[in-house]
Amino acid sequence: CMVRHYKFNVVLTNTSRLCSTKPIVTVNGQFPGPTLVAREDDTVLVKVVNHVQYNMSIHWHGIRQLRTGWADGPAYITQCPLQPGQTYLYNFTLTGQRGTLLWHAHILWLRATVHGAIVILPKRGVPYPYPKPHKEHTLVLAEWWKSDVEIVIKEALNSGGAPNISDAHTINGLTGPVAGCPSQRFTLPVRPNMTYMLRVINAGLNEELFFKIAGHKLTVVEVDATYVKPFKVDTIVLGPGQTTNVLVTTQQGSGRYVVSVSPFMDAPITVDNRTATAILHYTGTQMAAPVSLTAPPPINSTLVATKFTNSLLALNSKEYPANVPTTVDHSLFFTISLGLNKCPTCTGGARVVADFNNVTFDMPTVGLLQAHYFGIEGVFTDDFPTTAQPANLATQNGTRVYRLAYNDAVQLVLQDTGMITPENHPIHLHGFNFFEVGRGVGNFDPEKDPRRFNLVDPVERNTVGVPAGGWTAIRFRADNPGVWFMHCHLEVHTTWGLKMAWVVDNGKGPNESILPPPSDLPKC
Ligand code: C2O
Repeated sequence: CMVRHYKFNVVLTNTSRLCSTKPIVTVNGQFPGPTLVAREDDTVLVKVVNHVQYNMSIHWHGIRQLRTGWADGPAYITQCPLQPGQTYLYNFTLTGQRGTLLWHAHILWLRATVHGAIVILPKRGVPYPYPKPHKEHTLVLAEWWKSDVEIVIKEALNSGGAPNISDAHTINGLTGPVAGCPSQRFTLPVRPNMTYMLRVINAGLNEELFFKIAGHKLTVVEVDATYVKPFKVDTIVLGPGQTTNVLVTTQQGSGRYVVSVSPFMDAPITVDNRTATAILHYTGTQMAAPVSLTAPPPINSTLVATKFTNSLLALNSKEYPANVPTTVDHSLFFTISLGLNKCPTCTGGARVVADFNNVTFDMPTVGLLQAHYFGIEGVFTDDFPTTAQPANLATQNGTRVYRLAYNDAVQLVLQDTGMITPENHPIHLHGFNFFEVGRGVGNFDPEKDPRRFNLVDPVERNTVGVPAGGWTAIRFRADNPGVWFMHCHLEVHTTWGLKMAWVVDNGKGPNESILPPPSDLPKC
């Protein structure tokens, strides 16, 4: 195994999109940021230097961080942020992980522009469990706002309402042609009769995205850095934080084909014109040649999304078995809802809030992991409600965590109650992968539904879409001591309080405990 060194300079960079230029926060001046490349079991050292006037923190989304919670990154959960001028060395090992993940800022809304790909190759000499692609490409999908994203969210918080949606989507930082603006379109060069692997990442803030290539089928082989049973589709869907590897076999001959990225929302809207486009360009084809286009799915194409999601099954081979916990120590049921809380300073006197089990999570001002490790009192309470709370428009507030003993098997049913409007919620768990053993529409039936759980080859992920007005059941083993954040990866919902944390630790010896904090860990 190797040690891989990276240096991330967080800087302001003038960037032009949609006919105007503004400074954005980037890593090393790049949007998207640099790709981390490593192999399974390598150690990665990333020295982050914060040169901007915002506090900063970086999260390695989907990296398990076995006993190294200090390197996980969510601000005020596992660390205090890096203040302007500060430096912090993130140090972690990629134990038993390979595939595509992403890194992103984990403070305020800075991940809008501070994000990039993580590519973990299999150990040297270990092949992929599918035919070796001729070439691999990484496609980072994101959103773009004309105004400053931090202002967008500040205004929303002051008003108590919803923030503006993004003005465009991007593929590797580029929107595709926009009428009247200089053309900025990502081009993916390919040769005929070859198989390519595309590592597709949704690094967007608030939208689930459809991804599709005109005239080409996509063979899905991996999601969230876990192998799946290969299947073919026209369109894949990714929630923010999710990744999907697909194989694309090129045709004979030449041509230019549109790659489209468009939003998916299970809502009564049918039209959205923020589609980003790139071009799959067969070498030798004239740049001026006409492009082949197929319309992206309409924004509310729930069936397209469901078809994709329902096709995902773990590869579950001899080399890559699905180790689904078959017995359960904690069987939990969390509701997800949006509500309105009183807010005297907001326009209209109320603010939109979101919650798990009717608790809107209050961010602490000290890292929860520090509070846990050093026994600092008064930072959190461990009374996260475990019994179903009656869905209620007004929520309680609190910094409440749920305690798990090391190695406990957890089953968690996430139920969307859709009190205001039914929405999909891509729920992300830090520190673990989990198995999605069941999902359904409507209300979860504790008698009937568990009988249909897939305990053999359910897909393994780190971020799962809870369907609008439906439920998802996940299982994981609490084999990673630490404090682990769980939240909706639609940043707007996280801001509204749809987040909580798990504490795992018996304090019973080195393997069941957290490693001591590094000496350069930022202080609050
Ligand atoms: Cu990708 Cu807590 O986030």
